[in-house]
Amino acid sequence: MTTIVIFGATGDLTKRKLIPALFNLHKQGKLNAKIIAIGRKPLNDESIRSELKQFVKGDWNTFKNLITYHQLEFHDSEAYDALKKKVASDQNRLFYLATAPESFPIIIKQLNRTGIAVKNPKKGWHRVVFEKPFGHDLKSAKQLNKEITTIFNERQIYRIDHYLGKEFVQNILVLRFTNPIFERLWDADHIDNVQIISVESDGVLERGGYYDKSGALRDMVQNHLLQLLSLTAMEIPKSLDADDIRDQKVKALKTIKINADWKNNLVLGQYIAGGKVPDYHKEKDVSQASTTETFVAMKIMLNNKRWKGVPFYVRTGKALTHKYAEIVITFKQLPCRLFCGPTGKLTANSLVIRIQPDEGVELQFNLKEPEQDAAAVPYTMDFSHEAEFGANTPEAYERLLHDVLRGDQTLFTRWDEVEHAWKIVDKLRSVKVPLRPYKAGTHGPAAALDLLKRDSRDWSGNRALRR
Ligand code: BG6
Repeated sequence: MTTIVIFGATGDLTKRKLIPALFNLHKQGKLNAKIIAIGRKPLNDESIRSELKQFVKGDWNTFKNLITYHQLEFHDSEAYDALKKKVASDQNRLFYLATAPESFPIIIKQLNRTGIAVKNPKKGWHRVVFEKPFGHDLKSAKQLNKEITTIFNERQIYRIDHYLGKEFVQNILVLRFTNPIFERLWDADHIDNVQIISVESDGVLERGGYYDKSGALRDMVQNHLLQLLSLTAMEIPKSLDADDIRDQKVKALKTIKINADWKNNLVLGQYIAGGKVPDYHKEKDVSQASTTETFVAMKIMLNNKRWKGVPFYVRTGKALTHKYAEIVITFKQLPCRLFCGPTGKLTANSLVIRIQPDEGVELQFNLKEPEQDAAAVPYTMDFSHEAEFGANTPEAYERLLHDVLRGDQTLFTRWDEVEHAWKIVDKLRSVKVPLRPYKAGTHGPAAALDLLKRDSRDWSGNRALRR
């Protein structure tokens, strides 16, 4: 039997993501474990169960008895001694640290001191999952990593980036490396530009306190967007082994060079009131004079042969028109010789990997319109994941928790990935650009459009701008 110990069990992440994911695994017979929910509040087994119940759809009764509550202040040694007794009978132990990162070191030190979690357990396994953010900048991330790696082996450490658990993020490699029609064209000779987008319509909601100290560069770019970028840009790995894949991702990140010209390649914004969303600086727990960015658009070049001269445009932000994430690959168009029509131009082929909300793949190509012979026009072939498989794709956290239980680290970030992503974000944060206001419910600052217009391109591959 396995024990899953969740630190931060009364928090939002546990309620909205972890418990529903564990419930689903239980329903499918993939969870042979008990769950110890840890929090600072004075709760008991019954009260934590009733708090968590509302976040689960389905037969709660068979699941609820797996959950017990353990009250613990992170510094309280005696509370860890008591926890030790509760886990003693189980050799396999999964610790999920869904707390603020400042608390990670004290928690793992106490777990180690008591022998609850050790480097090389004599029997079974001990694995520790660290929620993001992993540090606040390169320096703090290094410090944190030093502390956790003195206590655990890299093999025991699972740094979460929940985007890696998304079905269509996993599909990036399958699509690229199993289809010669894409793999052969995946380079600067054939690709004009790549757009990597993950945007949201909500403002910061209840998370102003955290977000105001973070901002979009740290909250989204350092992790999710650079992960999407490295999966799109990497070379083929030797095998599907976790380390072979991560080696190639790190190599791709290392090719990103940020230099003095960067002022022209980076747009930062902050939302002002629009629709139901208030001004950012009036959000709960946000400082009135806040200069935190809630929007980032940028143009990144990768310094290697495959991507020579191909811009990767990245965009993320809160309080925009829609919530969606996608990768748009626009191929190069040849000079038009036939079917050019009055414009004399043809639309370039494009491939859209839709990560959310409607997962799938779109391929755009040219055909003739009925009754028209002179000009070709673009049409889209659309693969909808839901239409094919129904709406039952596992949530990212379900997949990721199952992988931790199985000991598969492929969808977790290795230290050098985190390190290089921080190097990039620290550099980006040092670039002095104005913070541009944008109205909530729009596409963000106009300067983000200019970033592409300047290159005679637009975000038109992006469906929200087309809608
Ligand atoms: C989290 C960020 O990592 O990702 C949030 O902290 C953001 O600010 C969220 O809203 C987006 O994730 P998803 O899966 O909803 O796109």
